Amino acid sequence: MIEIIVNAPKGGVGKTTISTNIALYLKNANVKVKAIDLAQGELLTSELNDQNFSSQDIITCELGSISKKGVIKPFGVNKKEIVIDRKKELEFIVVDTDDYVDVLTDLLKTNDREIYVVVPIISGKYELKRIPKDMEQVLKSLLLQSKTNVKIFFLLNKINSKEEEKKCRDALKDRALDSYILDAKVTYHKNLICTDNSILNSQIEKILQEMEII
Ligand SMILES: Nc1ncnc2c1ncn2[C@@H]1O[C@H](COP(=O)(O)OP(=O)(O)O)[C@@H](O)[C@H]1O
Ligand SMILES: [Mg+2]
Repeated sequence: MIEIIVNAPKGGVGKTTISTNIALYLKNANVKVKAIDLAQGELLTSELNDQNFSSQDIITCELGSISKKGVIKPFGVNKKEIVIDRKKELEFIVVDTDDYVDVLTDLLKTNDREIYVVVPIISGKYELKRIPKDMEQVLKSLLLQSKTNVKIFFLLNKINSKEEEKKCRDALKDRALDSYILDAKVTYHKNLICTDNSILNSQIEKILQEMEII
């Protein structure tokens, strides 16, 4: 089982958009995939429902986090923990998260699964300040703990021009994070659902190929 987690310490960068489309891409490729929605507003859940994603394959736990051994822990008392079904035939889980890095802190404790973290970044001034700074800390602690089961990739999103792309790359380079940037990027799209033969679909495919997931 491969777990793909989309997380960034900033809202509006495309976490829900990217996680929704990765889940859809995999489902359309006839791969067994479960989507986990840990973000406020349950947008991944409603979008995937609209796209006829089987409700059995969506786990919704607003503001939850995934702990060691794959248990989803909701915040607040009296809420039940959810244990991720780890049946062999399940090949992927795709997780949408909120704008905090606690989710990644939980992941750092885990050794028993392969985890791919996708961190979307856009060329806004505030995003370019905040994301590299916070992710530098996360990556340092991964390195310190010699974590080999967690791989992190920055994904340039909503890229309209070479200039915007360069801004993102430079901001990450300034913190020596450039080796984690994916070449594959997501451009600005009016229609944000990947369908067969759409440009978005081929961009998602390239991302998964570059991460060596497919
Ligand atoms: N590649 C893109 N092109 C155009 N709009 C995008 C793109 N990615 C995200 N958006 C839009 O940006 C806004 C924030 O995206 P969202 O996925 O909800 O971010 P997050 O989950 O990080 O808060 C949404 O309105 C979404 O439709
Ligand atoms: Mg979101």
